Amino acid sequence: MLLNRTKSKALGEALDISNAIPKNSDITIRGTDDYSEITNSDIIVITASTGVYLKNRNEMIDEQVKMIKEIGKKIKKYCPSPIILIISNPIDVLTYFFQKETNFCKNNVIGIASSLDSSRFRYLLSKKIGVKQSQISDALVLGEHGDSMVPIFSKVKIKGKNVREIIDSKQKEDISREIRDFWKSLRNLKSRSQFGIAKNTYDVMESIIKNQTISFPASILLEGEFGEKNVCMGVPIKITSEGKIEIQSIDFDESEQKLFKLSAETIRNTIKSV
Ligand code: LAC
Repeated sequence: MLLNRTKSKALGEALDISNAIPKNSDITIRGTDDYSEITNSDIIVITASTGVYLKNRNEMIDEQVKMIKEIGKKIKKYCPSPIILIISNPIDVLTYFFQKETNFCKNNVIGIASSLDSSRFRYLLSKKIGVKQSQISDALVLGEHGDSMVPIFSKVKIKGKNVREIIDSKQKEDISREIRDFWKSLRNLKSRSQFGIAKNTYDVMESIIKNQTISFPASILLEGEFGEKNVCMGVPIKITSEGKIEIQSIDFDESEQKLFKLSAETIRNTIKSV
């Protein structure tokens, strides 16, 4: 079901997508503006936005938080316990307010963004070092989907070798900055990002629907995990083949630990500013 506050938009997009359904597929798609048509949904992806941010993802934060709370109320009315995938920005703050508004099981409300930042990390490493992306493992970005995000260089392996034996600190800084600013290039060149976030969201949905285990970084409410409380931020999570969502542990190096704590504080301060 494709739901939009503007019915014609939902109907039009659904009509168009219906022509992309593979001939051997059982998938059907319908457009609507009526929340009662998503009753008892198992997975809900929220992509809504009140406008387009230009300078940073927090630009329309008050309108976005108001919107996500309204969406939460309507979803809660028709869906008792869905898995929620949020890709609306600012992702960490909206994931937080959506979970508080609905009081859905905290691990069932997930902000999809750190996996996108991690895809960018892998891409930029491959470009900088001149290796295929398939030769890079464990390129993780955690923390805020924003300027305080934390690329976890200490875990990255390039053809089995730790990346810190291959790149110097200047290259590390360049890559960190390029991951942070990646969205600006997309905004300037093609007005928005679409395919990266779509693929990262699709991977999670496919795993849940096909009862496959998937591990990926995503924004989720922390209540003591990693020593952080009352904040949503990118951490490693795993969805088991039974659909159980678990937060995974990871050991940072000292500098990453400091940046992770700073990122948590940054997001908490943004939450308090609303
Ligand atoms: C980006 C948007 C999805 O990083 O926040 O492209």
